[in-house]
Amino acid sequence: MRFKVHIHPGDRDFTVEAGETLIDAAVRQGVPLPYGCRNGQCGACKGKILEGRVDYGDFSPHALSEQEINAGMALFCKAKPLTDIAIEPRSGPAMQDIVVKKLPCRVEKMELLAPEVMRLHLKLPNTERLQYAAGQYINIILRDGRRRSFSIANPPHEPGFIELHIGRVEGGEFTGHVFNGMKEKDILRIEGPLGDFTLRKESARPIILMAAGTGFAPIKGIVEDALTQGVHRPIYLYRGASTKQDLYLDRVVRGWVSEVENLEYAPVLSRPEADDGWRGRRGYVQDAVVGDFPDLSAFEIYASGSPTMVNAARETCLARGLPREHFYFDAFEFGER
Ligand SMILES: Cc1cc2nc3c(=O)[nH]c(=O)nc-3n(C[C@H](O)[C@H](O)[C@H](O)COP(=O)(O)OP(=O)(O)OC[C@H]3O[C@@H](n4cnc5c(N)ncnc54)[C@H](O)[C@@H]3O)c2cc1C
Ligand code: FES
Repeated sequence: MRFKVHIHPGDRDFTVEAGETLIDAAVRQGVPLPYGCRNGQCGACKGKILEGRVDYGDFSPHALSEQEINAGMALFCKAKPLTDIAIEPRSGPAMQDIVVKKLPCRVEKMELLAPEVMRLHLKLPNTERLQYAAGQYINIILRDGRRRSFSIANPPHEPGFIELHIGRVEGGEFTGHVFNGMKEKDILRIEGPLGDFTLRKESARPIILMAAGTGFAPIKGIVEDALTQGVHRPIYLYRGASTKQDLYLDRVVRGWVSEVENLEYAPVLSRPEADDGWRGRRGYVQDAVVGDFPDLSAFEIYASGSPTMVNAARETCLARGLPREHFYFDAFEFGER
């Protein structure tokens, strides 16, 4: 049996086999719905069921609350239609024009930014452009078809290549290969752009950006894009790392701050080393944010990094009055095993 899915707004339909999730069916047919972990953990695929019924599947209460279910929301990576349905995906600005592509690309340059962070420049084929919004991510497609997600760290106005910041994961299959086997000129297969971790440009709210570790990657793309576009709202960038050497590209950030008036920067170290000579802020980014802004009701917050950091940031900020709908995030969940 198969069911029809109508995407609202617009006139796009696709089909889902019985027992298949909405995201699995969308990916199979090249339909660009946002998603992240594909495992009910991150909330990136959340959207509205306008008509029809679904089996909601198993998911983390951090990703979808009881209240959201009552308001008609579901996680499309877990939801399996039980009837024909109509859905309204959560879409970032101008996402309608974005086409998800599968492309080969060449590893043009590899650069160690910190002991555990490698910057990759991926060169796209000369005939191809990847149109994306700053903050989105791509999947690297492994030989057996499994995916590994990485955020695009350069803004869309730099055409022809993609910058990634790859953090080494203990025992990690792909990230281990990046540090131990990958060479310049290697060919990778990618899929993207994906996700909706993008700046809401229509909003007038002051912006707080929170990045931990390689969570800085999408934030770098977002800030560089915002500076080019002349976003005039106040932007407060809080950046967390363990030690000073993990605060890679710190000079680039200080360069932005010296160029524009509406950007403030607070690096925060959780475990500075004795010889770091660190006189800056200590602790976790979310605690630094609420220390500076005890009332967050007027802000919008963009958080990216480990799921632990994103979940802690969400809890801390909602407790200080941030409206839930103004907390945007990319939780760096693991890919399929
Ligand atoms: C939207 C998105 C954007 C991302 N952007 C970035 C980025 O810009 N930079 C970056 O560095 N990372 C990013 N990540 C995280 C990155 O995708 C993972 O770190 C990556 O998939 C690790 O791949 P791997 O093959 O090296 O590790 P794997 O081989 O998949 O796993 C590494 C280790 O974790 C364990 N593990 C695997 N799955 C689980 C699980 N479910 N629970 C507990 N342990 C598990 C394994 O046993 C192994 O020890 C992003 C993730 C998402 C979802
Ligand atoms: S919760 Fe669905 S993609 Fe992460």
